Amino acid sequence: MNRNELPPLRIGEKTARVPIIQGGMSVGVSLAGLAKAVADAGGIGIIGTAGIGSMEPDVHSDYATANKRGLQREIRIARRNTNGLIGVNIMMALSDYDAMMRISIDEGVDFIFIGAGLLLRLPEMVKIEDIRSSKTKIVPIISSPKGVSVMFKYWSRFYDHVPDAVVVEGPMAGGHLGFTTEMLDDPAYALENLVPQVIEEVNPYRERYSKSIPVIAAGGIYTGADIKKYLDMGAEGVQMATRFVATHECDASIKFKQMYIDCRKEDITIIQSPVGMPGRALRNDFLDAVSKGEKMPFSCNWKCLRTCDYRTSPYCIAMALVSAKEGRLDRGFAFAGANAYRVDRLYTVQELIDILAAEYSEAVG
Ligand SMILES: Cc1cc2nc3c(=O)[nH]c(=O)nc-3n(C[C@H](O)[C@H](O)[C@H](O)COP(=O)(O)O)c2cc1C
Repeated sequence: MNRNELPPLRIGEKTARVPIIQGGMSVGVSLAGLAKAVADAGGIGIIGTAGIGSMEPDVHSDYATANKRGLQREIRIARRNTNGLIGVNIMMALSDYDAMMRISIDEGVDFIFIGAGLLLRLPEMVKIEDIRSSKTKIVPIISSPKGVSVMFKYWSRFYDHVPDAVVVEGPMAGGHLGFTTEMLDDPAYALENLVPQVIEEVNPYRERYSKSIPVIAAGGIYTGADIKKYLDMGAEGVQMATRFVATHECDASIKFKQMYIDCRKEDITIIQSPVGMPGRALRNDFLDAVSKGEKMPFSCNWKCLRTCDYRTSPYCIAMALVSAKEGRLDRGFAFAGANAYRVDRLYTVQELIDILAAEYSEAVG
């Protein structure tokens, strides 16, 4: 391999031609369409599972079944259409995260990325033997070196097994964030400070389990030069989401993508999500109304997120995110990373990967 080229990313026996993982995006922003395109381009394509049943006809009467069917279908469509690597993103906070894990393993996805919480005790439906004997790799998304240490210690002690890779997600990411609002601007928690600390936490387990356990950097990575910066620090890959929203293949409505193209730096804001975590999103009339104290009444018959305080929440976050994804922007809002204001137009996924590869080469050269 030429040293100017993006290096491959190896996780266990699976190899991605380029070290780029498309971050999972919930409520149908990253489905089989985007995941397949990224996998075809040599990266790892991820299907977001949160609210994946929202397009099913029975979503209001039987949310659990709708979600299961939606996930199974998207995995199968992606699989049928690409020979590349496909994973899913499951948020720990999902009420049905057990079922989502079980289906993903049964469907034989290449990776399960687990976000929004620390996966310690395995769900009832998934035993450690299922994980050991399956080809599916488990990759937690964690925002602190301490979290990595706690998880690896726990898994090592109780399962004598450790995850296959780790994504360290810094404070510039889009969506729910694993930081308090005060931590977001504190340089101590900047991604460039977290990556070396996470590598240090993971190192002893690499030897003990004879596993490579690559560390993957995420949050605010925008150019090929950014990719080089994190690879130089010892990360072996990057996870990017914001840039993949601005692609033709992204599964969200064109109006959702246009918000990214139109937004300015000052439109990117931090909200307090009903889920109990801060989140980064694009400011719009909906969020302005919420911040003025307006309530958008709703009834909740499922409680899709275990941590959602739906009785006091002024709006339903799942409904708001689905509405925005479908282009009904007056009824919801879009999550976005801190660099979304840099998006100027739509690309195809292949064009985007080619641009990142060229920028990487230039930075190396
Ligand atoms: C629209 C959107 C939806 C997201 N949804 C999820 C999600 O469901 N689960 C999750 O773990 N991360 C989610 N994220 C975070 C991304 O997967 C990713 O790690 C992060 O945004 C990377 O930073 P970047 O957007 O600056 O590249 C979301 C991000 C965006 C922009």
